[in-house]
Amino acid sequence: MANTILVGAQWGDEGKGKIIDVLTGKADIVVRTQGGNNAGHTVFIGKKRYVLHLIPSGILRPRKLCVIGNGVVVDPVSLVGEMEELNRLGVRVKNLFISESAHLVMPYHRELDEQRELLKGEDRIGTTKRGIGPAYGDKAARTGLRMIDLINPGRFEGLLRFKIKENNEILKAFGAKPLSFAKVHAAYRAAGDRLKPFVTNTVALLHEAARRGKDILFEGAQGTFLDIDHGTYPFVTSSNTTSGGACTGSGVAPNRMDEVVGVMKAYITRVGEGPLPTENQEIADLLHGMGREFGATTGRPRRCGWFDAVATRHAAIINGIDDLAVTNLDGLDSLETIKVCIAYRAGPTRLDYVPADIELLAKCEPVYAEFPGWRTSTSRCRKWSQLPLRARSYLRSLAELTGASLMIVSVGPAREQTIFL
Ligand code: IMP
Ligand code: MG
Repeated sequence: MANTILVGAQWGDEGKGKIIDVLTGKADIVVRTQGGNNAGHTVFIGKKRYVLHLIPSGILRPRKLCVIGNGVVVDPVSLVGEMEELNRLGVRVKNLFISESAHLVMPYHRELDEQRELLKGEDRIGTTKRGIGPAYGDKAARTGLRMIDLINPGRFEGLLRFKIKENNEILKAFGAKPLSFAKVHAAYRAAGDRLKPFVTNTVALLHEAARRGKDILFEGAQGTFLDIDHGTYPFVTSSNTTSGGACTGSGVAPNRMDEVVGVMKAYITRVGEGPLPTENQEIADLLHGMGREFGATTGRPRRCGWFDAVATRHAAIINGIDDLAVTNLDGLDSLETIKVCIAYRAGPTRLDYVPADIELLAKCEPVYAEFPGWRTSTSRCRKWSQLPLRARSYLRSLAELTGASLMIVSVGPAREQTIFL
C-alpha cells in the first residue's frame, strides 16, 4: 500500500473511521498525527459499534501497530477510559505506542475551553469542550506539559504545581471554580502509570519501520475546513488537519509519503458554528429522520447540506489529494433531485475557491447544478457495476468537479458495504 495520508475533505465526520478501517487491512502501522479526543471515529464490525477518540482504529485489527504521534494532544485520563472501554468490548490494547513529545490536555484546558465559549455567547465556536484549543495554545506558548513529563513523577509534580497555580488565577478571573492540585495530581499520576509502558520515541519507531519497508497509514482527524491555517477561521479546530499535519505530527518527511486519499460524504455536514454555504434544512430533516448525522463525540445533530464542489476542489489542492473515497452515498437514495454546488456567487462576483474571509463566505450564495436521483437502495451494492446508472454518473461528476480520481464508494457502515474501483 505504501505510505498513505488520509484526510477529511470537508468539515469533519466524512466517514474517515470506516475508510481507515478498510484500508488498515493493507497497512502495517496506523498513525494519528493531530487533534485529540475531540475526534470521534465510528467503526462497525459485525453488530458491534466502536467509537474511537484517540486510539487509531487500527487497534480493531490484530497485529497492526498503532501510533499516537507527537502532533496529537492527549488527555491521559480519557485515553485510559478509552482503553478500558475497548477491553470491555473484547479488544486487547497492546500494539499501541504513544509519542513522548505529545502534549497533555489538562483539566484547566477543558475548563478554559468551556469558560471562553460561555463568554463569547452567540459568537461561540461550538467546540467539543475537550480543551483542545487551550492545550494547543499552551503548546505554542511553550508552557505545555508532555507525555514525557507525565511519566516522570518528580518532574510532573513540580510542573503541575506551577500550572495549577497559574491557571487557577485565570479561572478566578472568569469566576470559575479553582482546581485542586491534589485531585488532578492523583488522577493524572494514576493515568501516567497505566500509560507508561506505551510511551516511547515514535519518530525512531516510524523511521525504523519505514526503513524495513512497512506500509504506514496516517489517519487524519477532523476535516480540511477545520484546519487552523486553511479552515474557516476562527470556526476551526486548533491543529493542522490537512496533509502537511501528517508530516509534522509524526516526524515522517513529505518525500516519504506516497499517496493522499481524501474522504468526503456524498453530501455535506458540519457540527459547531461557522459558515456552511450549501446548508439545507430539508436534507437535514431527511437525514436526521433516518437516524443519521448525530455527532459521535458530543451527540449533537450535525448541520447538513448539498455537496459543495468548490470546497472539495479547494481541499484537493491544499492536501494534494490523489484518490477519493465517497461515503454515505445511500443517504441520498430517496431523493428525486440532487443538487451540487459548482461555484459561489457573492453579489456580482463568481468565486471558485473558498474565501478566507468568513464574512465574505457567509455572504456566498451557492450556484447549483442538478442531478436526477436514482431512487433505489444502494446499500446492497458491492460492485461499481451494481450501482444505479444515475448514482454512477453522480459519483463521476463529484470526482471530476473535485479533480481527483474515485477509488472507494461506501454505501453503509459495514466493512462489506464498500466498493473499490
Ligand atoms: P474543538 O476542536 O473542540 O476546539 O472544536 C472546534 C470546532 O471543530 C467545532 O466546530 C467542533 O464541532 C469541530 N470539531 C472538532 N472535532 C471534530 C470532529 O472530530 N468532527 C467534526 N467536527 C469537529
Ligand atoms: Mg467524527
